[in-house]
Amino acid sequence: MASVECIDLRRVFELSDGGEEVAVNSIDVTIEEGEFATVVGPSGCGKTTFLRMIAGLETPTSGDILFDGEDVTDVSSQNRGISMVFQSIALFPFKTVEDNIRYGLKYADAEGEEVDSRVSEMAEMVGITELLNKKPPQLSGGQQQRAALARALIRDPEVFLLDEPLSDLDAKLKSKMRTELKELHQMLPKTTIYVTHDQVEAMTLSDSVIVMNDGEIMQKSPPDEIYDHPQNAFVARFIGSPTINMIKGTVEDGVITADLFNRPLPVTAELQETVDREVENNEVLVGVRPNEVNKVSDGEDSIITGSVRIYEQMGDENIVYVESSDEEIRVSIPPNDIPEPDDQFDLTFTHEDVHLFDASTEEVITNELTRP
Ligand SMILES: Nc1ncnc2c1ncn2[C@@H]1O[C@H](COP(=O)(O)OP(=O)(O)OP(=O)(O)O)[C@@H](O)[C@H]1O
Ligand SMILES: [Mg+2]
Repeated sequence: MASVECIDLRRVFELSDGGEEVAVNSIDVTIEEGEFATVVGPSGCGKTTFLRMIAGLETPTSGDILFDGEDVTDVSSQNRGISMVFQSIALFPFKTVEDNIRYGLKYADAEGEEVDSRVSEMAEMVGITELLNKKPPQLSGGQQQRAALARALIRDPEVFLLDEPLSDLDAKLKSKMRTELKELHQMLPKTTIYVTHDQVEAMTLSDSVIVMNDGEIMQKSPPDEIYDHPQNAFVARFIGSPTINMIKGTVEDGVITADLFNRPLPVTAELQETVDREVENNEVLVGVRPNEVNKVSDGEDSIITGSVRIYEQMGDENIVYVESSDEEIRVSIPPNDIPEPDDQFDLTFTHEDVHLFDASTEEVITNELTRP
């Protein structure tokens, strides 16, 4: 097993029209030995390129990759001790599933009873035992994905790299495989870097979540931390569904004011000083998650008043889109509470649930506003 360290890693593609595409801009990150790190971020932000560089399948334009402190930047993929499952499945179409899995051991000893039993064990784990004699074109996308996973798992890699390995599976299988991957990692805590579009996967599987944007890492933190303490507005918006509300406001004279607010929100003198010192024009974004916004109870002062535009029934909650001063606020309410269109909602939230960001840099000011 190995730790993976990337130092100022960069990959620029030359385009045929003479231009260039900066796929990975400047990545500095360490994934500890045995850590399970997931990588999330919008399509095209450089996740696959990042993983392929660690795998040795893509040459960095500049920067270094270290496994256990040793520079492997110029070491070939075969000699890095990695195992990778690709976003696009790359099984051999003319070999049986069984031989495809066995091929995972190409550089090891691929004969003998022990290997046979490992093949069956892996096939069983991913639920394709009855497909071992078929060939990949005869399988569904999800079945192919599971065969590719078995092939990667059978090798005993130092570092396990997975690029959206569950994307073609249906919801039920996905959740089963997710649990199995987690169990597998608990049994054999291999250093794992796992790219996914699925937030549930990122939050449930990993020791740490890496949020990428535009070829850069915006934050690397444990799942609860990335949700509770986003370091910038991008991470706050990217993690959590429905998306966090971001309300434009100003912090002046000891209060936050916003067009949307019925009343100013008091802040501590200390926070006011920080904003005066660090925030351009004192302009901020007030971030409040939909599940932290509540309808006021009797006698309580509301912060926002608006009317119901639409709502979505999600099963365990209803998401209500409330319109106020041309802005939209997303509110999560209990499933049995069904609003009528144009209903008036008087809303409130507590100071502690506010994430405050600098409106121009989008960097966090505080993730827990304190009441003066
Ligand atoms: N071989 C290549 N030549 C030119 N540009 C490339 C090449 N590979 C990737 N890119 C570009 O680099 C950027 C990052 O691509 P990458 O595949 O790493 O994104 P991604 O985060 O994995 O996206 P997705 O979530 O859609 O898989 C994209 O803008 C892509 O078009
Ligand atoms: Mg990709």
